[in-house]
Amino acid sequence: PAERAALMDRIAELLQQKNAVLVAHYYVHPDLQDLAERTGGLVSDSLEMARFGRDHAAQTLVVAGVRFMGETAKILSPHKTIIVPELEATCSLDLGCPTDAFSAFCDLHPDRTVVVYANTSAAVKARADWMVTSGCALDVVNHLKSRGEKILWAPDRHLGAYIERATGADMVMWNGSCIVHDEFKAFELEGLKADHPGAKILAHPESPAAILALADAIGSTSGILKAAREMDASTFIVATDNGLMHKLRTQNPTKTFIEAPTAGNSATCKSCAHCPWMAMNSLQGLAAVLESGANRIEVDAALIERARLPIDRMLGFTA
Ligand code: 13P
Ligand code: SF4
Repeated sequence: PAERAALMDRIAELLQQKNAVLVAHYYVHPDLQDLAERTGGLVSDSLEMARFGRDHAAQTLVVAGVRFMGETAKILSPHKTIIVPELEATCSLDLGCPTDAFSAFCDLHPDRTVVVYANTSAAVKARADWMVTSGCALDVVNHLKSRGEKILWAPDRHLGAYIERATGADMVMWNGSCIVHDEFKAFELEGLKADHPGAKILAHPESPAAILALADAIGSTSGILKAAREMDASTFIVATDNGLMHKLRTQNPTKTFIEAPTAGNSATCKSCAHCPWMAMNSLQGLAAVLESGANRIEVDAALIERARLPIDRMLGFTA
């Protein structure tokens, strides 16, 4: 613990020296979340990470999360230096949606408005009309539907199917998924719920439809936190990456949070629903990149110009 505290102090000092700010996602290690808050940075969902990074005066943004979050920050602030603790931290949704195949899919549907999730590469965003995160996808698609637009959606099939059911929009979909949320199991969740009859189920919309059907509230990571604060229950079963447990528990010290069951675990497993790429972020890695200036995110200038349009649309719509 003393070493850990010293490392955190050292990082805080380096952030200040380098005029850098730390922006972290709710799924990274609690130490990184706490450090972001303690040093005047932010811990939040993908939508607010993008907005905060764009608006902050610091010339260097340190993004603790996964690669697409660093790329989004670079696209929105091309003149800032964007560094990440781990360049190899990717996402199964991004990996499962290669640019050429996605572009060919778009070519098959020229009449559709292309809406992509934040969890994609800069090149995929450059092919899109809109970018969305789980925090605003419902509102954006409702808006597009009201304008009579048909939608091409990529890459998360569970989030897409949820939006389609909720809005009734005409959507064709890419077949991608998040390896963490895809593992939640409805049969086991029903069993857990039976053991905790008063518990409310909170789920991220990257979870399969059978999980969402059992949920009392469905939302982005920020949406889940809001529901947990506002819902009148003392116990919650949570279907999302267990990195969110830290904030759920610190914001609600009198409430109990239980992880939803995944394929390979029992209800008591504490580490199954955790993203291996989010887990690559560490205090040691962060200190090392701040010392060395390594792990910069670079995006081709032409790509930045094109990929910015769908992100700006989303930020304008949600402002
Ligand atoms: P949100 O925090 O926007 O809900 O995103 C979840 C996610 O997929 C991050 O990996
Ligand atoms: Fe991607 Fe899922 Fe990991 Fe988020 S939790 S970065 S969606 S693999």
